[in-house]
Amino acid sequence: MCGQKEKSQGSQNFSSGNRTKIGLCMCPTCFGAAINADGVASPGQAAQALIPFLRRAKARKSDFLTMATLFSKHMSAIVSAICVMEILHTTILVISVYCIVIALNRLYFHPLSKIPGPKLAALTSWYEFYFDVLQPGQYVFKIKELHKHYGKAFSLPSRPHQYVHNSDISCSLGSIIRIAPSEIHIDDLDFLDSIYPASNAHKRDKDWSQIRKLDVGMSTSGTVDHDLHRLRREALHPFFSKNTISRFEPVIQEKISHLVSYFDKAQASGKPLNLSDLYYGLARDVVFECSFGMKSTILEDEHAAASLRANMTELLLGVKITKHFHVLFEAIKLLPASVGKYFSPPAIKNMRDLSLTVQEAIREVSSKDKQAMLARTDQRSVFEHLLSSPTLPDSEKSLARLRSEGIMLMLAGTDATAKVLVTTHYHLLGNPPMLDRVRVELSSLTPSTRSAAHLQRLPYFSACINEANRLAFGLTGRNARIAPKEELSYRGYNIRPGTSMSMSTLCIHTNAHVFPDPWEFKPDRWLGAQGKALQKYQFGFGRGSRRCLGMDLANAELFLTLAAVVTGHEMELVETSEEDVRFLHDFQVAQPKLDSKGVRVSIKG
Ligand code: HEM
Repeated sequence: MCGQKEKSQGSQNFSSGNRTKIGLCMCPTCFGAAINADGVASPGQAAQALIPFLRRAKARKSDFLTMATLFSKHMSAIVSAICVMEILHTTILVISVYCIVIALNRLYFHPLSKIPGPKLAALTSWYEFYFDVLQPGQYVFKIKELHKHYGKAFSLPSRPHQYVHNSDISCSLGSIIRIAPSEIHIDDLDFLDSIYPASNAHKRDKDWSQIRKLDVGMSTSGTVDHDLHRLRREALHPFFSKNTISRFEPVIQEKISHLVSYFDKAQASGKPLNLSDLYYGLARDVVFECSFGMKSTILEDEHAAASLRANMTELLLGVKITKHFHVLFEAIKLLPASVGKYFSPPAIKNMRDLSLTVQEAIREVSSKDKQAMLARTDQRSVFEHLLSSPTLPDSEKSLARLRSEGIMLMLAGTDATAKVLVTTHYHLLGNPPMLDRVRVELSSLTPSTRSAAHLQRLPYFSACINEANRLAFGLTGRNARIAPKEELSYRGYNIRPGTSMSMSTLCIHTNAHVFPDPWEFKPDRWLGAQGKALQKYQFGFGRGSRRCLGMDLANAELFLTLAAVVTGHEMELVETSEEDVRFLHDFQVAQPKLDSKGVRVSIKG
């Protein structure tokens, strides 16, 4: 046994009291030998003494290991936390610098920085988000208010504004404001043709950020580029031209007969009818049958019409959100149909069904002999018309392109038409003297002369429909245009090429200088020479090179349907107020109060 045991620092006692004292020599030579106080212990004793020690040593070792592991874990957590913090700091710093640079640029160095308007609107599109999403569909109303406020800056007139020429209605000062970081809005009817010119010499693109939400980018209406739009529009135009529109009258008449049968039944049963649903069903069937040459029977099922209208309203209520969160919309579209359906409103399912029907119609037409198609002059569907178009290149005749066109026609032709129908009928029911005047005028026509063309020559009846078209507001969204190459100027402000500029239908149709008492239904304003001059400011069907292509079909539908319904039966409004037709929210088209059930009537005789 080593004599160093006393010195050995690591020597330890394992027992105490009267029991044999056993120590452990920790010197390098005999490390680990068990000894008693007098000398070397027996191997058994040593082994016995060794076990707890080993246990403890093991425990210590494992303590040590645990501590080391913990330490290293903590250290790596601390290090990663520091890294994360650093990355976070750097990211925040970079983002802050980026935001500051963007903010400074937007406020002081941007080409639009000199244009008046709220700084917040110039700074961020969250301003628009607030008024359009959080205060549903209110931004166009806010813009009108902003014009009043910032228009004061233009209070010293440099020129008189003679809106209605050759009349004594005159003078309003226009104004220009910046309503988003890269968009301006002008409230000046004399500038309408500069934003929405008809001539091809003044090219106007659409603003992609405003139309992408509708997801019909390959359709005529959804086309951004001026030249491509022109190509598509020219191919589509003959299908809806005034000269050929009379071929659709039998389709419209058939739908009207169906509508009138509802009135007959309701008169017998005393049950109220929902005109908003019925007109929606009628407008949808007409545009479907006229465009696709296929039967559509939505009007035959009152509930189907109601559900389609409700779903479409719901879809429209989402357009402002999809405008700001387009990525989300795209992501949902990428999901497989079985998953996507849980995230999609019912209207998307309706759209999907419509898309499949349209696809089917296109396939059927595509399988036909091209020569035979070219030889036909009585094209049955818009797809036959487009597929046999000599001006469209093959790339424009793809399934996806035609499908987009078909869906756009359904969107463009249904809701707007139904709105004008319901608005006219509501106001006539609420103004019996006006209704009487219309009836007297209509009585001058015999059944054989009650064609759409003849009806459109009746001045007062036309004035009523014109006035309803004004109060239905057509497209209520901003419908901006971009001059890609042309530099414009408004009241000393240069509008550079590429600037998104718009004039909303709200500002045009409620301009009190042109339309005194703008929210009142006053058909007389459209009569005589002054009424003719007002036509220039009827923006319901849009303006310029992208004006509504279905205007003649829509007019045929409006005149024929209203002539039939206002003369056939006596009706009374039921639980319906002006808020059920008035433009209160902008969701691309005018929406009345959000919980409106539509215009309801009871049939009295
Ligand atoms: C009263 C009913 C209607 C109203 C108020 C109306 C209103 C409008 C408006 C304001 C535009 C211009 C959109 C823009 O500037 O981007 C437009 C475009 C269009 N509308 Fe109508 N519309 C009606 C009925 C119809 C009907 C029945 C059809 C036929 C299917 C139709 C087909 C179109 C097409 C194809 C365009 C696109 C024109 C282009 O981009 O060149 N519309 N409509």
